[in-house]
Amino acid sequence: MEQKIALIPGDGIGPEIVREAKKILDKVCEKYGHSFTYTELLLGGASIDVHGVPLTDETIEEAKKADAVLMGSIGGDAKTSPWYQLEPSKRPEAGLLKLRKSLNLFANLRPAYLYQELKEACPLKEEIIGDGFDMVIVRELTGGLYFGERKTIEENGVKKAIDTLTYNEKEIERIARKAFEIAGKRRKKVTSVDKANVLDSSRLWRSVVEEVAKEYPQITLEHMLVDNCAMQLVKNPGQFDVILTENMFGDILSDEASMVTGSIGMLSSASLNETSFGLYEPSHGSAPDIAGENKANPIATILSAAMMLRYSLNLDQEADAVEKAVQTVLTQGYRTPDIMSEGCTCVGTREMGDKIAEAID
Ligand code: IPM
Ligand code: MG
Repeated sequence: MEQKIALIPGDGIGPEIVREAKKILDKVCEKYGHSFTYTELLLGGASIDVHGVPLTDETIEEAKKADAVLMGSIGGDAKTSPWYQLEPSKRPEAGLLKLRKSLNLFANLRPAYLYQELKEACPLKEEIIGDGFDMVIVRELTGGLYFGERKTIEENGVKKAIDTLTYNEKEIERIARKAFEIAGKRRKKVTSVDKANVLDSSRLWRSVVEEVAKEYPQITLEHMLVDNCAMQLVKNPGQFDVILTENMFGDILSDEASMVTGSIGMLSSASLNETSFGLYEPSHGSAPDIAGENKANPIATILSAAMMLRYSLNLDQEADAVEKAVQTVLTQGYRTPDIMSEGCTCVGTREMGDKIAEAID
């Protein structure tokens, strides 16, 4: 099968982790007789350095021409990097948000799964971990506070900043439908997370989700307030199957969920539009403090590549093989520093990629 993949290495540890994910894709091609062609695109700080802006129109066009986009991470140290001297709309993160919006990637799927091998790295107590947990956060990605009007003004000599949180019924309906579809293939439970005791946008969210739920009688729906959800994630993570939530809440809860899986270095993600096209990226950031040191965990990016095989390229067997290889290497005891525990073998980014590539059969 011939496929066109756009690669966005990005900033910080991005190039290292994307290099390892490509190693895995090359191995998949070799084993299964596929041929993928790659185009490298600039985003974030890497694009600012060359073009002065974090995302160019050409990059958007090139991304659209691909069957899928695999991305590393963008951004730098806000205290020291010159990128953060630029006005907010020209900084690395603005490029990523514009890319998500331009490609209409409204559905962000972030699976958080506890590998038995990583129980040691999980900060929760044994009795809370229980039989482990396996959830998917379905985060709305192109609306809410991230894309509402914002400005900073001065009123009577006092500075005032305004961010606007809006959602319309259509935006809520399409992401809710995604969550119910996904739950249908899993344990058939959707927890819709909002702040309906305070926010109008959450009250609308709740009522639209309830309407959509009527079309999925086989799925159990529950509503949970976001503050309670933050607590439940560390109190009883096993209760969750699919968490459906808006953009900002999803950003926060997915970092929390990733930490209980042992490390944010394990959490993959897929950002999808209405078609099979998607952008795949780890949920973590660019970790500039360890960039270039061969310390970063490439697993979240490798698992994102597996999601790409599954969702955009329709290669389920190959996706299974990659996920199984990750499992095998963890069982063999190889760990990057972020998930290291006693008795295991600590390896670098490159070696972790080599081991996973070797384990693909
Ligand atoms: C994420 C990141 C981004 C977000 C940043 C880099 C803009 O934190 O993908 O979770 O907030 O969406
Ligand atoms: Mg985030």
